[in-house]
Order: sequence, then C-alpha cells, then structure tokens
Amino acid sequence: MTAHRAEHAYVEDHSPGTGRLAPRAAFTSDAPRLSLDGDWRFRLAPGTHALTDCFEDPGHDDTGWHLLAVPSCWQMSGVPGPPVHGAPAYTNLVFPFPVDPPRVPDTNPTGEYRREFALPEDWPADGSATLRFEGVDSCFAVWLNGVRLGDGKGSRLPTEFDATAALRPGRNVLAVRVHQWSAGSYLEDQDMWWLSGIFRSVALLHRPAAGVRDYFVHADYDHRTGLGTLRVDCDSPDARITVPGLRLGLAAGESATVPVEPWTAETPRLYDGVLSTGTERVPLRIGFRTVSVENGLLLVNGRRILLRGVNRHEWDPDTGRTLSLATMLHDIRMMKQHNINAVRTSHYPPDSAFLELCDEYGLWVVDECDLETHGFFLTGWRDNPSDDPRWREAYLDRMSRMVERDKNRPSVIMWSLGNESGTGQNLRAMADWTHTRDPGRPVHYEGDWDSGYVDVYSRMYADHAETDRIGRRAEDPTTDPALDEHRRSLPFVLCEYAHAMGNGPGGLSEYQRLFEQHPRCQGGFVWEWIDHGIRQRTADGEEFFAYGGDFGEPVHDGNFVADGLVFPDRVPSPGLVEYKKVVEPVRVTIDTATRTVVVHNGHDFAGTGHLRFLWRVEDEGVTAGEGELSVPHVAGGATAFVPWPDDLTKLPDPAVERWLTVSAVLAEDTSWADAGHEVAWGQTMLTSPPAVQVPPTGIAPTTTGRYVELGAGVFDAYSGSLVRLGELTLDGPRLDLWRAPTDNDLRGWRGSVAAQWRAAGLHRLEHKVLAVDSDGGALTVRTRVAAAGTDTAMMTAYRWTADPTHRGRLWLTVQVEPVGEWPFPLPRLGVRAAVPASYDTVTWFGAGPGEAYPDTCAAARVSRHSSDVTGLQTPYVYPQENGSRAGVRWARLDDTAPEPTDGLLVLGTPHFAFSVRPWTSEDLDAARHSTDLVRRDRVYLTVDTGLQGIGSASCGPGVLPQFQLPTRPTTFTIGWQTAVPAS
Ligand code: GAL
Repeated sequence: MTAHRAEHAYVEDHSPGTGRLAPRAAFTSDAPRLSLDGDWRFRLAPGTHALTDCFEDPGHDDTGWHLLAVPSCWQMSGVPGPPVHGAPAYTNLVFPFPVDPPRVPDTNPTGEYRREFALPEDWPADGSATLRFEGVDSCFAVWLNGVRLGDGKGSRLPTEFDATAALRPGRNVLAVRVHQWSAGSYLEDQDMWWLSGIFRSVALLHRPAAGVRDYFVHADYDHRTGLGTLRVDCDSPDARITVPGLRLGLAAGESATVPVEPWTAETPRLYDGVLSTGTERVPLRIGFRTVSVENGLLLVNGRRILLRGVNRHEWDPDTGRTLSLATMLHDIRMMKQHNINAVRTSHYPPDSAFLELCDEYGLWVVDECDLETHGFFLTGWRDNPSDDPRWREAYLDRMSRMVERDKNRPSVIMWSLGNESGTGQNLRAMADWTHTRDPGRPVHYEGDWDSGYVDVYSRMYADHAETDRIGRRAEDPTTDPALDEHRRSLPFVLCEYAHAMGNGPGGLSEYQRLFEQHPRCQGGFVWEWIDHGIRQRTADGEEFFAYGGDFGEPVHDGNFVADGLVFPDRVPSPGLVEYKKVVEPVRVTIDTATRTVVVHNGHDFAGTGHLRFLWRVEDEGVTAGEGELSVPHVAGGATAFVPWPDDLTKLPDPAVERWLTVSAVLAEDTSWADAGHEVAWGQTMLTSPPAVQVPPTGIAPTTTGRYVELGAGVFDAYSGSLVRLGELTLDGPRLDLWRAPTDNDLRGWRGSVAAQWRAAGLHRLEHKVLAVDSDGGALTVRTRVAAAGTDTAMMTAYRWTADPTHRGRLWLTVQVEPVGEWPFPLPRLGVRAAVPASYDTVTWFGAGPGEAYPDTCAAARVSRHSSDVTGLQTPYVYPQENGSRAGVRWARLDDTAPEPTDGLLVLGTPHFAFSVRPWTSEDLDAARHSTDLVRRDRVYLTVDTGLQGIGSASCGPGVLPQFQLPTRPTTFTIGWQTAVPAS
C-alpha cells in the first residue's frame, strides 16, 4: 500500500477508532472548559486522493478557505439557498454506494477543518486536557499542533482524545479531517438524509488531577416502602456525594435509603446533589426510580406504564441534524403539550442535552444506539455486520459509548441496541454487555423477533388484529417452542406504528383501545415526530420543503423522509392534534341518563390535582352557559362520577342542537404550558332538533330558451348544470369521486389503492348527460359518469327541487348506481361546485376546527367554526388530499369582495363533509411541492356524503374495513341556499 493510501486506511477498517479515551458519563463540572464551537476554516475535497498538502501543519496557510460553523452539517451550508458544500442526499435503506464492506468509494467527500484557539492564561497547569467531540459524521482524524491524537467513528456518539501532551500555552491549532463515508457508514444506514461534518459541539476540557473521570448514579425507588436508595459509584475513590434536599452525605460506593418522592415522566422529581473530590465538583440531578419487567409487564416503580410515544430524529429544516438547545426544548414542550409521554431516540443517541431536558420535563426515553444496517436487507442480508465477528468490537464500542454517556439519566428507562440491523451474534454481545453493565434497565431491539436476548417483545407496524393477538399472548408461534414461551413472557411495545406520512395516520384510536385493553400492550411510538424536509426557495423566493431527489441524487427515496407529526418547521400537523386527543391521559365522558360527568384518570402515577374542569353548553355552536365543575381529586387509574352542576341542569331547552363539552385544563402554569392549557376533553349532544324536512316536490321549473328556472336557481337546459343561485354565479355541483391520492393511498404493503383508482380512470371521469327533464315539481338530470376505455360507469341522477317554505333554497338529491365491476372502495362520494374566488370565508356547524376523515376524527369537536380558505388547507410537504371537515350540519361561504353578494349556505340531511380549496383536486394531484399549487379564480367546494378513510399503508396497515367507503348504490340530499344574510 502506498503511504498515501495507508495514511487513510483507518477510514475503511472495522475498528471503531484509535487513540480515543475510554467512554464515560456526560457531565459538566466546575473544571475549566473551553468551547471550540464557532466558525472554523473549512475546505471540501472530493476524496482523500485529492488531499495534497499537510493541512494539519500548524503553519499551514488557510486564509483562502471557507468559514464553516461548528457544529453544523456541511451539506446544509447555504440552505435555504442552494447548498454550498456538497448537497444533502436521502435514502431510506439503499446504500448510496456499492455494498462492499468495509470499503467505501474513492469518491468520498472529505472536509478539512482548522481552528486556532488561545489557551486561556489561567488554564490550570496540573492534571490533563481532554478534547471532546459530541458528534462527527462519519469518520474523522484529529491533530493538535500537528500531533495526531487519533481517529474515530460512530457519528452520533461522543469521542474523546487526550490532548495533554500536544497542548501548548497560548496559540494552538486544531485540525480535523472528516470523511463522509467510512466503514462506519455500513452501521449507520438510518432512514434519513446523509449529512456529514462536525455536527455537534467540540470542547477542550481541563481534567483536574484526582478529579472525576466517571460516575454511575444508582437511585432506586421501592414503591412498597416509599424509600429511595442512593449509591453513586465513582472511579475517584475519595469522592463524596451530598444531596442537601435529602440531608445525605455519602462516600462513593456507599448507599443510603431514605424517604423520597420518586421520579416518573408524570412527576419528574429531581434532587440536586454534588459529587466532589478534593479538586472537582460535579452537579448531580438525581431521579429515584426503578424499572423492572415482572410477570410479563414493564413496570416503573412497581406500576405498569403506558407509553404514549413518538420516534424522534434530530431534525431542523435549516440546519439538519444540528439542533439548538432552544429547538430541543421546543420539541419537549410540544410533546408535553400534546400528551406525549415517551420518546424513542430513533435511531441514535440524541444530543445529551436533550436527555437532560427529558429528565427535567418528564419523558420516558428509549435510548437507541447508533446502529442500523438495513441496506443489507436488499442484498439478502449477505455480509451483514451484525453476524460478522470482525465487526464485534465496533458494535460493542457503540453500545458502551451510549450506555456510559447516558447511564445517569433517570428518563432513560430502556436501552435499544439499534434499528433494523437483522440478526446476529454481535447484537447478542451488545445485549449481554449491557445487562452486565446496567442490570437496572431492560434491553430493547426490534429486529430479532425471537427476542432471545432482550427484555421486551418489540415490533413495528403490526396491524390491529395482530396487536390484539399479541395482547392476548396468543401470537403466531415460531418453530421454536422454547423461544415462543420466552417471548410470551415478555411485555409488548410497538417501537414504531401509525406511520405519520402525509395525511394521517388513521386508526390511532383503534390502537389505543388495544393498549388500554391488554395489559401486555404497553403502548408504542408513532413513526415519527418530524418531517425531515429541507427549507428551499423557488426562483421567486417562495419557500417550500425539499425531499429526496430535490438535490439531484441519483438514488433516493423521494418524500418518504416527510413522515412526521409536525411539519419541518414544527407546525403541528393534524396528525399530532389527533394523537393528542387519542392519548389524552384523562378521559371525560358525559352520561346524559344519570346527568353525570365521568372523569377517568388514565395517568399511571399523577392525580388530577393539577387540573381544573370547565363545562360549556353550546346551542348550534353558540355558548348558552358555562362554568367550572367541581371534581374531587382522582388518583391515577381511578374514576370519579360528578353530577352536573345546577347551572347546567337549569338551562332552558333550546330549539336547536345543543352540545355539552367538558375540558380538563391546567390549573397553574407548568414548565411546559400555561395555566388554562387544555389536556383532555369530552363532549356529548344534549338535544337534537327534528331532522330537516325535504319537501318531495316544490315550485315548478320553467324553461326559457336555454335556461331552466327553478326557485332561486337557474340551470343550463342542455347540461342540466346549476349556473346561478340568486345573485351567485357558479359551476353547479356534479358528481365527484376523485381525491388527490394521499401517501397512504399511494403506497401499500398490500398494493396501492391509488393505483387501482387510477387504472380505473377515476381521475379522468367524463360526465355524459343522458336527459334533462323538468316535470311538475322538480328538475331531473340523468348522467352516465365513466372513464375513457372502460364500460363501467356510475349512473347518476340529480333531482332538484325548490323549497316552497325557504326562499332561495334548493334541494339536490343525488342518486348514484355503480354499473359493472368496481372492485375497490371509492376515494370519495360527493359533488363539487365552483364559486368565485372572493367567496373565501367559511363558517360551519359541525366537527372541527381541523380536518377530519373517518378514521382521523377523534380530535374534531362539534361547534361553530370558521376559517378563511387558506386556513382550510393543510400544507403537506407532498401535496395530497387534505382539509376535509367532517360531521357538518351546515356550512356557509361568504363573499368578502368589496361589494359582496349573498352568501351560499349548504345544508346537510343530516351531515356531510366538505372541503373548500383555491385549486382543484387535479391540481393537488399534479403538484409535487407546495409551491406548485397556484390559486385559481374560483374556489372549489366539495360536499361529500362519504370519504375513504386514511389508514397508514404508507408503512403499515391500510384502512380498517369499517372506515372504507364501499362502492354501492347511494342516495344523498344536500340543500343549497342563497340570500342568506351575513351574520
Ligand atoms: C421503519 C424504520 C424507520 C423508517 C420507517 C418508515 O422500518 O425503522 O427508520 O424507515 O420504517 O418511515
């Protein structure tokens, strides 16, 4: 091997690194620390072959180099404009290079970083100096003042080097060479953007002689006695621990048992302490809690917990995997505000500051190792590192670096070996090592369904029926009865479920019911928290979020990277709002027969003392009475029955539909939300008015030339279309079956329903008018709706009558009858009309305020809602069907033009769903990014009697049968009225 190749051999060997210090706990202390974050000099070479000069030489002239922020991902520099250094690339599992482990391509973008720093004059002369990198992707070598300190791999794990010998007083020059690809890349095939560089902080740490190198806090809680036992192991034998709040003073290794308040995600009680040697003081934050698996259940402090979790990648649309503390805190506050109580750190340990915040704010954490070899699946798992002894050291190295770093975090209740890395001896070795090092936490790994060396049975995307079987411990057997027996003895978690790609996920409520019904089903983690879109701008400066392929990647997985509960800019998507409702920790139900409010406290630990309960009665969405309900303190798991207050029972009966809503809100400000923040709610209908009467016949139509007049309506006598209603000119309603396919419609393990729809031509239906008849009291239009090239059709009759008792009101009864083969559910069944774009305000009485589909409607409440048209659109990163409002009794569109004409009122018999868009479904279907959608001069109103559910087939089960829209003869009636005075 030539010297030049040999110099870079570390990039492609199995070794996790050389010259590194042993892993240890993440902590800060009073010892001096010099942050090396900030602008560094940077240049990018296309591969190691292109490196010609000695950049590590302290005298090297780097004045012509770029400046690059540390920490940052170099491909993100320039974003939201065009990337300056390389470009982001997205693949799910396919490796973007030939699979030839441990070798990687010679075209291996290599970033050279240089930074000068002055050692502070008061930097202590004693002890040692450690250079700490929190995360460098994917492989790097380090020189200080021209002295090579070592090299490392393991992108999202810390690496430390001993800098003592190379460090000088005054000016120092640090040089770091980072390679985009390395042998480590084979172990880091997570479904995310490939991004490189020094993406987490760098610091120089003074390590005092006789200081603390490492420590391990053991703080157990015995729920039977209410006592906590503290022992802190420390490799400085003379270390002492004090916890003033507990009046404890202990030597390292000594234990004490005292009454404590336990730590839980619901009650994150931390005790401040100090670990000190003669030369160093380390602040401690101690949470007492005990995690165990007993009788097939995962327990914390002796109780079964229910995980209402999310998978969280570290993501920011402008900085990639480099996150500010403010962003981490923002995520945690949003999670808490949306009733989320658990995080799986998919699929690598996050910035350790995030875990400290989880301790403080209270979230259960499954800390996952930086390991995924999913790309080997595509080559039949041949040469999978998980079962190859040459990779054993690298696997163990990764696990120990995570466990050692995070072992003092009470929020971490489970260790996860990694994700989707197949099966093999190295995984078992990781689990064995972890069980020995930290017997206090269960070990998780999903990829080996035998679950032979883990403590919980974990799966991803199991459908409802299988989850139910697992819940009953009646899952399908394998070929090994001993393993089956072992597995059946384990608690069950869905480490991923409910794929939140685009519109959805549907079916959350049905999963939650199983989690609440079967003790073994201890909840799960929705895939995933955030869409990994990258902020970009069009030529005219309009912002959109880019996904795979947008940076010209030859191999990519498109928008599969945008599958979160929050949009890339962290605006909650309807999926998050739905999840909040589905997992609410308090269930409020209203029993009208006994006139009681039933409050069930679903917290695992916390009582309801932090909540107030408010009631409100609305008559057709208008408040008729409200007040506070006096609810006794309800312990976790308990239920209270509260009689309705007098103010409520005494309200006079209304003539309209009346609803009672009871909300549980925070009584006081917390660290994560303000007083008044709604945690849970329930509502029920108290009175319903008589159903709307549709007169069988009405005013007789009259025909004049090419128009037919019927009440306030004017129809085209040839097409039978309503062209005018009072003052309003419109393109009258006609059958609409199409929706712009959602990601869940498009993809599917069991085939794509959207492909069936398209093959049948539902996106290009033609409406052939067969007859336009005006008889005594109605106008009837018969059509045959069919796609080119097929002989199947939807025979459709529109029967219009004018209501003699309501001026300006027409009734439309649509009768549809499928003819021929329709072997799939319909996307939607409704009618679409177009009105002038100035009709851009919508008010409705029905479910809202957000979008709701048959299987995503838990969070929508019945009230009077209003929105402008823009507010009715949900800006999915990949445009698709969105924005439908459900359970609508009536909706009115108002004209906000300077000289407005009358509003348009649409009435249900009883309910319908509507969407109002400034573009058509066909426009939505054709768009690839939000900026492809251009407003038209019309607003399109779709009124649906039915919609296909959403499901989560983009990665998981499809729409449950009860939420599918069957193709069958259907009749529905909608009222259309103008001349409604604006209210
Ligand atoms: C899982 C995987 C995740 C993600 C998800 C689909 O199989 O663990 O990383 O790829 O599917 O979005």
